[in-house]
Amino acid sequence: MKLIILGAPGSGKGTSATVLREEYNLAHISTGDIFRANIKGNTPLGIEAKSYIDKGLLVPDSLTISMVEDRLSQDDCKAGYILDGFPRTIAQAEALDEMLAKQNTKIDAVLSIVVDDEEIKNRVAGRRVCEKCGASYNVVFKPTKVEGVCDLCGGVVYQREDDKPETVEARLKTYYKNTQPLIDFYNKKGIIVEGDNNKNPEVCIEQIKEGLKAKGLV
Ligand code: AP5
Repeated sequence: MKLIILGAPGSGKGTSATVLREEYNLAHISTGDIFRANIKGNTPLGIEAKSYIDKGLLVPDSLTISMVEDRLSQDDCKAGYILDGFPRTIAQAEALDEMLAKQNTKIDAVLSIVVDDEEIKNRVAGRRVCEKCGASYNVVFKPTKVEGVCDLCGGVVYQREDDKPETVEARLKTYYKNTQPLIDFYNKKGIIVEGDNNKNPEVCIEQIKEGLKAKGLV
């Protein structure tokens, strides 16, 4: 099964994808995580990506598309995957269609995660991430057992640079301008499955699972 998870910054894409990848044995491909790993490693891609990410802007399509094409060619994607944070523009979506057409395949469903903007701002303000294993926490909704220490690997948990309130505003603006039009793009293909993540993540994940069942995908 090939899935896309789509939603505003901080809507819960990563939270939902982490559960769904286990449930359906999918590779989880987060473009944000790939960029952050490159930033940490100080690679040329990371240095360029950081200049956009820190301003709440999108990394240019040319860089992002080739990075994803390379990632999708790896062996762990053969059994299916969940794309988290890609595509984010119509040009990326069209490039993805072309990539998959070459392999005689297509996306099965697009999981659209819905959350109110005010709730997003609260959640992002409280988000903390492990610098070692990438596990995601929230000081209000999902705190670590010991403050500042990852429950899973003992790594240091930190606040992402782009989670500062002014950058979150910019990320939301970028989302509405560039990414929200994708809902219409995929609605026309009839492959959207909606998850309401305004309450707890379990409710959202259950809705998604039901939606996938209704489409005969699971
Ligand atoms: P990326 O890392 O993809 O960031 P994002 O889309 O802004 O999404 P987030 O990771 O912030 O949030 P999420 O939706 O995964 O929410 P989460 O589950 O963590 O991208 C970062 C940047 O990279 C972009 O801004 C861009 O510059 C660049 N980039 C990436 N992809 C690109 C592309 N394709 N093209 C160009 N540029 C690209 O949840 C958020 C918080 O809420 C967590 O603390 C979580 O614990 C909590 N939470 C989740 N659900 C609930 C709930 N139901 N109740 C309470 N708390 C909850």
